[in-house]
Amino acid sequence: MYQAAANRYDQMKYRRCGKSGMKLPAVSLGLWHNFGHDTPHETKVDICRTAFDHGITHFDLANNYGPPPGAAEHAFGSILADDFKSHRDELIISSKAGYEMWDGPYGEWGSRKSLISSCDQSLKRMGLEYVDIFYSHRFDPDTPLEETMGALDYIVRSGRALYAGISSYNTERTRKAVAILKDLGTPCLIHQPSYNMLNRWVERDGLKETLQNLGVGSIAFTPLAQGMLTKKYLGGIPQGSRASQGKSLFPSMLTDNAVENIKKLNEIAIGRDQTLAQMAIAWVLRDGGITTALIGASKASQVIDCVGAVNNLEFTAGELAQIDKYADEEQINLWAASAEQDA
Ligand SMILES: NC(=O)c1ccc[n+]([C@@H]2O[C@H](COP(=O)([O-])OP(=O)(O)OC[C@H]3O[C@@H](n4cnc5c(N)ncnc54)[C@H](OP(=O)(O)O)[C@@H]3O)[C@@H](O)[C@H]2O)c1
Repeated sequence: MYQAAANRYDQMKYRRCGKSGMKLPAVSLGLWHNFGHDTPHETKVDICRTAFDHGITHFDLANNYGPPPGAAEHAFGSILADDFKSHRDELIISSKAGYEMWDGPYGEWGSRKSLISSCDQSLKRMGLEYVDIFYSHRFDPDTPLEETMGALDYIVRSGRALYAGISSYNTERTRKAVAILKDLGTPCLIHQPSYNMLNRWVERDGLKETLQNLGVGSIAFTPLAQGMLTKKYLGGIPQGSRASQGKSLFPSMLTDNAVENIKKLNEIAIGRDQTLAQMAIAWVLRDGGITTALIGASKASQVIDCVGAVNNLEFTAGELAQIDKYADEEQINLWAASAEQDA
């Protein structure tokens, strides 16, 4: 029987999500990888228990996380039933729809049909009555934004979700989506973009600043650049690492330039008495513009390391200037196309 740690709220910091009433942990956990059929259930349980025991109250999922798609929600549903049942009101659970999930024209993108059906499927897989946040996972250039946002509004009003969110929408579309949701009376709680020291599109695009101005919270995914912003790739590609698995971190992303810069960033982290992973998370959170860093983990010890970031979230101007020298944009934003399509 799992007994949650009595001191689970002692270390974590909780940050207000935009101008909403919701607070999110500075570090959140995503179940994109390592929660499919290719990972033993005990590992998933260990990661989730460790996260909750260290104050991570937010678990992020999507319909298609696996493999196969849906497997992560199934696995999380069983962990919820076995371990977290009595803690449901301490948890913020999110899911999303937008990427390919089932065959035919309704299994992806942003139609009302697709979003509402997918949300119902996700609730069933997780054994939940509602999720806390439901997202449009990507902008759909062929569906009127009013329809996609109307579906989110309906999902909230019908009790399937408490809040609405959007993911990988660029600044212009974010402004429109936020305005539509506001008119409908369901405010946009949060935006989920990719963001890290090697992928700074939210700064260039003005998204980060726009979200702050709009009072919408933000959750930065891949804050560790899928593991590149840790020590693990400084001497090649270790066996078992994500880059060795032919998934979403391709060896071609580990360019000589990236590895040289990561070495320098690692030295700066050592000077701050932090691991590089911790510094990468603190950097994403550095100016309050991002509410929470959404990490992934293949083992529980990584969760513990990442949570340690909250012990030092401050940077001197000198450190930030040093980091800027090496926080060079790499071609690692797999989600760029979603933000760039013409409306
Ligand atoms: N909205 C979207 O379109 C979208 C897209 C992608 C992701 N996401 C969300 O973002 C979440 C996080 O994405 P991500 O997993 O790519 O994030 P990430 O935190 O950048 O990378 C996680 C990976 O880094 C390694 N790692 C983590 N902590 C470490 C540590 N302390 N020391 C050494 N290595 C460490 C592990 O890789 P190894 O396997 O090599 O150990 C882990 O699987 C996803 O689960 C999902 O919820 C959303």
